[in-house]
Amino acid sequence: MNNGIEAIQQQLQKLRDLIDLHNYQYYVLDDPIISDAEYDQLFRELQQLEQRYPRLVVPESPTQRIGAAPLKDFSQVTHRTPMLSLSNAFEDAEVEAFDRRVREGLEVDCIEYAVEPKFDGLAVSLCYEQGVFITGATRGDGNTGEDITQNLRTIKAIPLRLPTENVPALLEVRGEVLMLKADFLKLNEQQHEKGEKEFANPRNAAAGSLRQLDPRITASRRLTFFAYGIGVTEGENIPTDKHSHIMTYLATLHFPVARECQVMMGVEALLSYYHEIGQLRERLPYDIDGVVYKVNSLRQQEELGFVSRAPRFAIAHKFPAQEAMTELLGIDVQVGRTGALTPVARLKPVFVGGVTVTNATLHNADEIKRKNIMIGDTVMVRRAGDVIPEVVSVVMAQRNVLAKPFVMPDHCPVCGARAVRLPGETIARCTGGLFCPAQQKRAILHFASRRAMDIEGLGGKLVEQLVDHALVRTPADLYKLELSALANLERMAEKSANNIVAAIEKSKHTTLARFIYALGIRNVGEATAKELARYFGSLDRLMDTDRERLQQVTDIGPTVAQSITDFFAEPHNREVIAQLRLSGVNWQKNVVEPVQLVQHSAINGKIFVLTGSLPNMTRDEAKEKIHAMGGKVTGSVSTKTDYVVAGADPGSKYDKAVKLGVVILDEEALLDLLQ
Ligand code: IVH
Repeated sequence: MNNGIEAIQQQLQKLRDLIDLHNYQYYVLDDPIISDAEYDQLFRELQQLEQRYPRLVVPESPTQRIGAAPLKDFSQVTHRTPMLSLSNAFEDAEVEAFDRRVREGLEVDCIEYAVEPKFDGLAVSLCYEQGVFITGATRGDGNTGEDITQNLRTIKAIPLRLPTENVPALLEVRGEVLMLKADFLKLNEQQHEKGEKEFANPRNAAAGSLRQLDPRITASRRLTFFAYGIGVTEGENIPTDKHSHIMTYLATLHFPVARECQVMMGVEALLSYYHEIGQLRERLPYDIDGVVYKVNSLRQQEELGFVSRAPRFAIAHKFPAQEAMTELLGIDVQVGRTGALTPVARLKPVFVGGVTVTNATLHNADEIKRKNIMIGDTVMVRRAGDVIPEVVSVVMAQRNVLAKPFVMPDHCPVCGARAVRLPGETIARCTGGLFCPAQQKRAILHFASRRAMDIEGLGGKLVEQLVDHALVRTPADLYKLELSALANLERMAEKSANNIVAAIEKSKHTTLARFIYALGIRNVGEATAKELARYFGSLDRLMDTDRERLQQVTDIGPTVAQSITDFFAEPHNREVIAQLRLSGVNWQKNVVEPVQLVQHSAINGKIFVLTGSLPNMTRDEAKEKIHAMGGKVTGSVSTKTDYVVAGADPGSKYDKAVKLGVVILDEEALLDLLQ
């Protein structure tokens, strides 16, 4: 009988080890080695076995992460050694001063540092006794925190049991609980759908999820953890020489340790690390607010000791804050190139993300309503990397009684034409078209931009003046500009005027693709312009085509086709084009042979999707053949798809085609059809 139980114990242990390993692969290494279905199968097997032998269930079993009853209150935990904070540096000089103090304190010339990201989450302490996770707590005031063990147990990146034979009697791991940016966006989407409160940033979302009395709520939020050090310990094998060795040790115990942790010598290396991580910041899956430099030698750390609540051996080098509070002074409405009316926040200047911000986008009227933003509010402004600053939220606690709601104008603020918002669109548009000076300016700037006609030196300030002085109304007017008119403008030296005239002249020789793109047709970006040039080979053919034919061009659907025909249906646009050509704007004719339209082919207008590799032709070749016969190739399978052409190793498109009952062709069948 005992033997029987032992065998069951062993089997349970084996399953738990295996599941822990796969958890580690998935949640820590982000590199699963089995499928979700296989994982679920293992998990069910363990659950069933534990159900049959309930007395053999142990708290550190992977089945026991959730299950604790909601608490009434968190109890207090006293940290066995206090959880300290770091002093901050913002400027290089402060880091240099730190390094100098360290070198002088230790009387050495060059210091070895361990460097790591400064995670923007919540500090926690995790205590393992005999290799089993026993208590987890928040930092609190540094001396006492709250016992959030039940919630921390639900975080899959935190091991419930250490995967080692040689377990330390006691190990306190310290680190940061975070929510990944992607999980934060998903959570906010769900909150929005449920009509519940959205979180301002991943840190707040992590905090809100961790401080839940009901661990089931925490379990439903995806949190993760990164270790950055240890607290109290008892036992051998724990490195006592270097911080970096402790980090490696923690990694072998399956704790997540940031890939960006490094060891380096001297202060210059620290500063280039700061710069490097700063560049990487936007692409990291989690938020950081700086980097941390730690003297690597534990002996040296001890020698340096502490000042009040912070160690002398470490410092946080912070990035400029990406969010800041300021006052919303007003809301302007800007008119874009295609007439889109965008509300823009005018802000009391605020330093955020390393620059002074005075304007921020509010996206559209719905967004203002959703965020409940009023003029006069105190708002949070965010500027991350190079993206346009945006107003994230209102600080409700500071709402002014005089705050005024914003009303989207029903007329264009620049030209006074009616603004309309088409059904299903979030954006209102000015109907003034190219008669609206705001749209004129945008259209000209776009026309002159580098990827369009590439007129060097024709920037925003100049275009502003040209339109305001009624020298230029349309792109065609650029080619009629006289040197004297230009030279009369404010701050325009003769040499610059000459340069501009030369640049305008030079731009006359262009390509059809650039010219189409430069026209600024709604929904026609650079890639679409290239496809159009390739397909039609001539501007006249493009101008006189219809929607049906347009939809045979790769990646052009009904919306884009409509935008194109609308554009050319406008006499004003045709007139501008005629003037441009008269001024000498030209491109090499028929560089690409136009594709002949086969009106009566069997596949005219039929929609194809390609998947897998074909035996005798590339997918591009197949695409061209289909186009040549009037067929259309799209990227995804839907009920509108007529044929799926499948080669070797087809992807999920094949499965979807089978599911939807779409006709599936191999290469030979395709060629037959094209004959
Ligand atoms: S070391 C004695 N390393 O920053 C120093 N802290 O102001 C103990 N933090 O509350 C902290 N990333 O939560 C350290 N790589 C990192 C960190 C880090 C984030 C947080 C930590 C602490 C605060 C210190």
